[in-house]
Amino acid sequence: MTHEPPTLVPSDSKQSFLNDVIDGLSATPKTLPSKYFYDEAGSALFDRITELDVYYPTRTERGIMRTHIREMAEAVGSDSVLIEYGSGSSEKTRLLLDALPNLTAYIPIDISAEHLAATTRRLRMAYPNLVISPIAADYTRPLVIPDDPVQRRKRVVYFPGSTIGNFTPEEARQFLRQISAVIGMGGGLLLGIDRKKDRDVLERAYDDPEGVTAAFNMNLLKRLNRELGADFDLDAFSHEAVYNAEMSRVEMHLVSIGKQTVHVNGEAFTFHAGESIHTENSFKFDVSDAVELAASAGLELVHEWTDANEWFSVLYFACAKRL
Ligand code: TRP
Repeated sequence: MTHEPPTLVPSDSKQSFLNDVIDGLSATPKTLPSKYFYDEAGSALFDRITELDVYYPTRTERGIMRTHIREMAEAVGSDSVLIEYGSGSSEKTRLLLDALPNLTAYIPIDISAEHLAATTRRLRMAYPNLVISPIAADYTRPLVIPDDPVQRRKRVVYFPGSTIGNFTPEEARQFLRQISAVIGMGGGLLLGIDRKKDRDVLERAYDDPEGVTAAFNMNLLKRLNRELGADFDLDAFSHEAVYNAEMSRVEMHLVSIGKQTVHVNGEAFTFHAGESIHTENSFKFDVSDAVELAASAGLELVHEWTDANEWFSVLYFACAKRL
């Protein structure tokens, strides 16, 4: 058992945060990278989103996993190394950990070091015999996972929540190639994808009546104010979520209510009334879209599990090619 604090990868430094923000706000249309949602407050708000009635993905994915956990565990393999990208609170992972008592190790990776440390503490209490080796890192950057010193076990990446849909298709392709490199030939990927469906269902999921998703989106501006000394007036922006059917994605925006100027690190950014900062995309997939995407990274579909409405799918891919 290891009890060291999470390995910290200092890629999320203040300078790159500032550069990314200045770049995003200088672009037309304005954008901000969604990975900065997840400070401690953002991670906690995100956990609340996953519990909302209108936010169906988490519940649906968990249902699929509950129903098919035996088959999934078999696909993962009993003594594999399980690597989770963006582990958050590792809630759904517990189903896999319960079904795989002989895992060689569980490696949760998350950008929020605080959240990761808290989750690791809880998991170690619940699974005292499991080796847990957390890595605090921005997994959108190249990442090396240290080789297990005793014996190279099969590696399986778990990437639930349709987080793959938060990348652009090109980024998703790159990311999947990186996963292929990490797991190697014979390794696996257990991937959650949110399916294309009615606009109403989609838009409600990203704009709940309680305003939790709005608060989550807005937290990004709070963070810029606190950490970068920006002067965003939070009452002067509103949260918007729209399904862009042509692009198969839900877009999240922070829309400037009036004309205004905001400062970040001495630089001024003007907004006209109705101008938006595009903060995130959540792409929706047919299974065939995901299969095609994965094929470009040498990954072959082995299993597909879905729910009765076909709102969400969990896919197991095997890495069949050395890239
Ligand atoms: N990847 C999930 C999705 O796009 C979770 C998520 C990321 C999310 N950012 C979000 C959910 C913002 C709601 C709001 O659905």
